[in-house]
Amino acid sequence: MPITNPKRYTVTAALIYANGPIHIGHLAGCYVPADIYVRYLRASGKEVAFISGTDEHGVPITIRAKKEGLTPQQVVDKYYTQIDDSFKALGISFDIYSRTSKPVHHETSREIFRDLYDKGVFVEETTEQYFDETAQQFLADRYIVGTCPVCANPNAYGDQCERCGSTLSPMELKDPRSMLSGAKPVMKATKNWYLPLDTMQPDIEKYISKHPEWKTNVAGQCQSWLKDGLKPRAMTRDLDWGISVPVEDTEGKVLYVWFEAPIGYISATKDWLIQKSGSDEGWKKWWQPAKEEADGETKLVHFIGKDNIVFHCIIFPAVLMAEGNYILPDNVPANEFMNLEGDKISTSRNWAVWLHEYLQELPEKQDVLRYVLTANAPETKDSEFTWKDFQTRNNSELVGIYGNFINRAVVLTHKFCEGKVPAAGELSELDQSALQELTAFPQRIGDAIENYRFREALTLIMDLARTGNKYLAETQPWHVIKTDPARVNTILNIALQISATLSIVSEPVLPFTAAKIQEQLGLSGQTWQNAGKADLLPAGQSISEGKLLFEKIEDHVIEKQIQKLQDSKKINELEGKTVTPVKPEIQYDDFAKMDIRIATIVAAENVPKSKKLLKLLVDIGLEQRTVLSGISEHFKAEEIIGKKVLYLANLAPRKMMGMESHGMILMAEDRDGSLSFVQPGKEIWDGGTVN
Ligand code: MF3
Ligand code: ZN
Repeated sequence: MPITNPKRYTVTAALIYANGPIHIGHLAGCYVPADIYVRYLRASGKEVAFISGTDEHGVPITIRAKKEGLTPQQVVDKYYTQIDDSFKALGISFDIYSRTSKPVHHETSREIFRDLYDKGVFVEETTEQYFDETAQQFLADRYIVGTCPVCANPNAYGDQCERCGSTLSPMELKDPRSMLSGAKPVMKATKNWYLPLDTMQPDIEKYISKHPEWKTNVAGQCQSWLKDGLKPRAMTRDLDWGISVPVEDTEGKVLYVWFEAPIGYISATKDWLIQKSGSDEGWKKWWQPAKEEADGETKLVHFIGKDNIVFHCIIFPAVLMAEGNYILPDNVPANEFMNLEGDKISTSRNWAVWLHEYLQELPEKQDVLRYVLTANAPETKDSEFTWKDFQTRNNSELVGIYGNFINRAVVLTHKFCEGKVPAAGELSELDQSALQELTAFPQRIGDAIENYRFREALTLIMDLARTGNKYLAETQPWHVIKTDPARVNTILNIALQISATLSIVSEPVLPFTAAKIQEQLGLSGQTWQNAGKADLLPAGQSISEGKLLFEKIEDHVIEKQIQKLQDSKKINELEGKTVTPVKPEIQYDDFAKMDIRIATIVAAENVPKSKKLLKLLVDIGLEQRTVLSGISEHFKAEEIIGKKVLYLANLAPRKMMGMESHGMILMAEDRDGSLSFVQPGKEIWDGGTVN
């Protein structure tokens, strides 16, 4: 059963690999919901630690380093800064954004490993692994390429074939070769330490069965792992980038990245306290509350994407259980994936909306992105981001409903009440029912957030804005002012009170906007518990007019973003294009039969009624000849006069469109189908031969 009223919350968001920038898929899957949850808890007066950082070890980092021609250290330094900056700019309110390269993390991971080692938890096992004798290195699965046994893709990886999607093991690949040196790897014995998940399975099952409240997508993945039967998993790996193993004679080995990375949440908590107060004192209340105080209760919640489920629901809890002193995750509200414009988000194909680029290209629109990603959050199944939807949600929901309501309440107050909160008089039935509705919203929204239903929470927030709009439409202060100004005071008082509550309950999703509204209304220090009350704003308080909260997004802004995606699709298609295979062998004599020489185009004109043909006159040294060339879609006649070209002089003449074409101009074709003349590297006289 979930912990329902804990003393405090330890909330984590996945430690993303520092091997690339953040995109909207990461945000929708993990970081935006985590931030909403935490902001809500803080507004409710709860004690929270919001922990995250970068995962800086493991094969993904070394692969990126190889690709970018950098050292792994340079890669993680570069991306840590970029990721940290862009999260801050989006208002993700981590208490600490740490790194697994910090000494405190190395120490903490080594301590926990050593503790399990001393307790005899690990099983030592020697296995045969692929080894690259040229590079003198064991090969991680990703470092082995070979032919896929399923689809014959010659470039499948040791863990997966990206063409057919099959999960593979390196032994299954045909003709394996090392990505480091290209050499054929050999088998070599190596000793590693395994976590015996097989014997731990009953304890893990018991733990998971205590959490029937977990999301179906999460519980489903756990059940399928358990059904297959858990297998021992190596907690050390043969790799040269990572945390050294705190055991004798383990050179060339590091801790398995999925052993130490989740421990990063613990180290980051210590890092936070060290940065705040110079020591990690007090860290245990977040991880081992029973050690710190008699009735300590801390709720641990991990926000992650679906590809991390097994590590957070099975492997990390198994490590914590084996250690014995730690609390276990109370919930792991993992999301599914968000797709982009009908296709899977992909870093390698540059099919993504990158956060750092978004922040630059659409400045001051952090809340719009937070809103759209929440409205389309992949909570129960994969979802979809499109720029058209982004525009529509901004224009008709944020501008048309939310912004419109707040704006009207404020503008009318300035128009009819001198910019001060008017006092409410006697309440009509309409007023009473509006206030009654208002009162119920904060609790309903809070319940949805507490149960990780962020889309529902956002729908309720917008319903509150709709309630406000409906109230103004029904009470019509702009008409009533002519006959009953006192009544207008009451109406606008209520409209402003609704605005105040709206700012509080939407703060978790729209923190920048909420801050603007609260500044306008002169509202501060309010808690979730106060939201919904009818006296948040005292009569007489000045309201400032402020700026518009949201602006309409024009078509050209959206079109530019769509164009950007189309450009990367084009580049991918070109990159995917393969080079034409070499034709069957010929002898020198076959080649020598051809008379290829340098010629100059001396005249060019279009051929009437032909889409493709240009009629060219070329000087071949001996004489001038007419050639019909199918290039008019690529070149204009007047542009090519005077060009030196390669010319095949002894090709038999042919008739085309009633004219005789003599010989052929040689052209090179690029992978996008565009053509180029092939020209000599220096000025060569007409008639010069090509041999
Ligand atoms: N680095 C992993 C990823 O980007 C996530 C690790 S979360 C952890 O998918 F905290 F467990 F490390
Ligand atoms: Zn395949």
